Amino acid sequence: MGRGISLAIAAKGIRVILYDLDAGMISSAAGHIHRELEQEFEKKRIPADEKENIFKRIRFTSSMADCQAPLIIEAIVEKPGAKESLLIELERINTKQTIFATNTSSLSVSGIAAQTHFPERVIGLHFFNPANRMKLVEVVRTKYVSDELTSRMTGFVLQIGKTPVVCKDDPGFIVNRVARPFYLEALRLAEQPVADIATIDKLMESAGFKMGPFHLMDLIGNDINYMVSSSLYEAFGRPARLKPSGWQEEIVKKGALGKKTGNGFFQYSKSSAE
Ligand SMILES: NC(=O)c1ccc[n+]([C@@H]2O[C@H](COP(=O)([O-])OP(=O)(O)OC[C@H]3O[C@@H](n4cnc5c(N)ncnc54)[C@H](O)[C@@H]3O)[C@@H](O)[C@H]2O)c1
Repeated sequence: MGRGISLAIAAKGIRVILYDLDAGMISSAAGHIHRELEQEFEKKRIPADEKENIFKRIRFTSSMADCQAPLIIEAIVEKPGAKESLLIELERINTKQTIFATNTSSLSVSGIAAQTHFPERVIGLHFFNPANRMKLVEVVRTKYVSDELTSRMTGFVLQIGKTPVVCKDDPGFIVNRVARPFYLEALRLAEQPVADIATIDKLMESAGFKMGPFHLMDLIGNDINYMVSSSLYEAFGRPARLKPSGWQEEIVKKGALGKKTGNGFFQYSKSSAE
C-alpha cells in the first residue's frame, strides 16, 4: 500500500519519503513505481519529463531517521502494537505540528491514537488497493480529532485527486464492513463445496463485480484480509456470520499470500508478484 500511496501523492507534485524497515521492500517498491510510471508513459498518459519528475519526488529509505514530514501516513502490518510503537517513535523525531494518519483497514484508530502522546493529531486515511488508481479514501475521525483537522485531511485527499468520505471510527469503517460477507460467504460456498473458486469468481464478475472474491483476496493479500476478518470478528463479539474461515488461516500459514507472493487462491506470474 505504501508504494501506491507514495505514487499517488508524488504524481500530484508533492514530495514523498517512502520508508520501510526492510531495505529489500524499498528496492522492490522503487522498481514497482518505476514500472508503473513507464506504463503510464507508454499509454501516453504522462510525458517523459513528468515520468522522471514524479519518480524523483520520492525519496526511498530504510532509515527511520529520514521520516520527518508535516504529514506521515503509516501503512505497515495490520498489528496494533507495531503501529503504536512506530507512531510513538515517529512522534519523537517530528515536530508538534506533524499529523499522523494510519491506513489501517480494521483496527480502532482511537485505540492506536490513545497510545500516542498526541491523539488529537492521529487520524485514519484508509486508501484502497491499488492506491495509485483507486479513488476512494475513507477519512476516519476519532473523538480526539477537531473539525479543522478533519477538513484539512479531506482537503489533502482532494488535492491528490481522490474522493474523501468521512467515517466514524467503527470496526471496518464502511467498505470493509460491507465487503466482509463477500469474502466470507464465498469461502463458505467453496468449502461446502457448492462451487469451485474459479466458478464463483467468474459468476460474480458476470454479475457486475469488477473482481471475484478470490482474486480480490489475492490482490489485497491473504494475510491482511485474514487479519481484517479476525479483527472485525472480535470487534463485533464473535458473531457466526463474521467467523473467519479456517482456509484463510491455512493459506496464510503456507505463505500463499496472494499476488505479492505469486501464489494464493490462484497462481501468478513473477512479474505480477513484484
Ligand atoms: N492490502 C490492501 O488491500 C490494503 C488496503 C487498504 C489498507 N490496507 C492496510 O495497509 C497496511 C499495509 O498493508 P499492505 O497490504 O501494504 O501490507 P504488506 O504486508 O504488503 O506491507 C507492509 C510493509 O510494512 C513493513 N513493515 C512492517 N513493520 C514495519 C515497521 N515497524 N516499520 C516500518 N515498516 C514496517 C513491511 O516490511 C512491509 O513491507 C495495513 O494496515 C493494511 O490493513 C491494506
